Amino acid sequence: MTATDSPVTPADGAPARRAFGIDIGGSGVKGGIVDLNTGRLIGDRYKLPTPQPATPDAVTETVAAVVREFGWTGRLGVTYPGVVTGGVVRTAANVDDSWIGTDVRTVIERRLDGQPVTVLNDADAAGLAEERYGAGRDQDGVVVLLTFGTGIGSAVIHNGVLLPNTEFGHVEVDGMEAEHRAASSVKERNDWSYKRWTVEVTKVLIAVENAIWPDLFIVGGGISRKAEKWVPLLKNRTPVVPAELRNSAGIVGAAMAAEFDVTATAPASRS
Ligand code: BGC
Repeated sequence: MTATDSPVTPADGAPARRAFGIDIGGSGVKGGIVDLNTGRLIGDRYKLPTPQPATPDAVTETVAAVVREFGWTGRLGVTYPGVVTGGVVRTAANVDDSWIGTDVRTVIERRLDGQPVTVLNDADAAGLAEERYGAGRDQDGVVVLLTFGTGIGSAVIHNGVLLPNTEFGHVEVDGMEAEHRAASSVKERNDWSYKRWTVEVTKVLIAVENAIWPDLFIVGGGISRKAEKWVPLLKNRTPVVPAELRNSAGIVGAAMAAEFDVTATAPASRS
C-alpha cells in the first residue's frame, strides 16, 4: 500500500484501515492497532515496562511480546528515541550506548519471523501523527513538532512529508545544547516555575524559527498537558499550539510510517 493509492482522510463512516505501531520509550514499550482513516486507536493500547538495562535484545523481546498480545502478523512501525537511518540506530542520547550501530529493523524482523518493520525516530512519528490527525491537521506549509521530556525531540513536516532525523534538541543555543537548556527534565531538576522555564523554551523556539521559518510549532511531551500554563508565556514569533494526540502520537505515527511513504521520497496523499 502506498500513499498515492491510499487516501487517509475519507468520509466519516469509511471502514477502518488498520495498521500497527509500537512506541519505544524510556519507561514503557507501547503498541496498538491504528485506524488510518481517523488516526485513532482501535481498542486499547498495550504497554509493557521497558526492560532494564534497555539493551537492543531485551527491548526486541518486549516489542515481540507487544506484537504477540495483539496477534498482529503484518507489517508494523516502531519508534526509537534517537537518529535512525536505513533501519540502523545512529545515536543514543537518552538510552544505552549499545544501541548505536544496531540494525534495529533487521533485528526486530528476525525476531518476528520476517514481519516487515519500519523504524523511525520517536519525535518524527509523533510529528507525522499530529500533522495529519492532530494539532496540525488543517495546516499547510512547514510544521515543526517539538517534544519536551527527558530530552527535546523534533520533527519537520512539509505538506505531509517528513524530513527525517532533525535533531533540534542537540543544536547549540546560546552556548548550550537546546535539550540541556529547555527539556522539561531541566525544569524539574531546577524546580523552575513555568515562567522561568519558558524563557529557555523561547530561546530554543527562536533559534529554530530563525533557521527554518516554520508556519506552526506543535509542542508535545507530558508537559503539553499543562499547555495553558506556559504556551501563552512564550515570546517567539511563530504560532505555538499544544499536541492533541497525547500518548498515542508515537504509536499512530509508527503505524503511518509502516503503511505510507511518509518521507521525502514520495509525497503523502492528503486527499
Ligand atoms: C534524541 C531524539 C529524540 C528525543 C526524544 C533526544 O535526546 O536525540 O532523537 O527524539 O530525545 O526522545
